[in-house]
Amino acid sequence: MTPGAHASSTERLQIEAEADVVVVRRRARELAIAQGFDAFAVAAITTAASELSRNVWCHGGGGHALLETVSDAGRVGLRLRFIDEGPGIADLELALRGGCSTGRSLGLGLSGSRRLVDAFHIETSPGEGTTIEVLKWARFPH
Ligand SMILES: Nc1ncnc2c1ncn2[C@@H]1O[C@H](COP(=O)(O)OP(=O)(O)OP(=O)(O)O)[C@@H](O)[C@H]1O
Ligand SMILES: [Mg+2]
Repeated sequence: MTPGAHASSTERLQIEAEADVVVVRRRARELAIAQGFDAFAVAAITTAASELSRNVWCHGGGGHALLETVSDAGRVGLRLRFIDEGPGIADLELALRGGCSTGRSLGLGLSGSRRLVDAFHIETSPGEGTTIEVLKWARFPH
């Protein structure tokens, strides 16, 4: 995804129950703080982690998250992947536009998360599942 970026060892967290969403959220926050993210960036990646792991749980039928710290040319960041083998997202363009929900929520999880991170990538196919990768940098080199 990010050519040249070095990744730390990957942490794998299962997302099988609502309580697991809280665990992923908390761990993403801890890693962001440890990486030196400022308060806005911590809030951004924590919110994205929460929304995307909630989607794995409630739309994807469960799955897992991979969390790793990355470094590239003097900057450090956090890369999170959310993986499920659920139904996939039939109309990705619609889902990313925001305001589209197949549940009873606002449908702002995907579109909001995309705006909160530096890189956002989705692979999804009907019946095979969804993988979403996000990357957030702590800061740029000065
Ligand atoms: N992992 C996933 N697997 C299958 N469908 C998904 C997945 N993630 C999102 N979707 C689909 O994309 C739609 C938009 O997702 P989004 O997170 O933006 O909204 P939501 O989860 O419905 O509501 P909100 O996140 O605001 O509570 C969902 O309603 C769902 O249909
Ligand atoms: Mg959602």
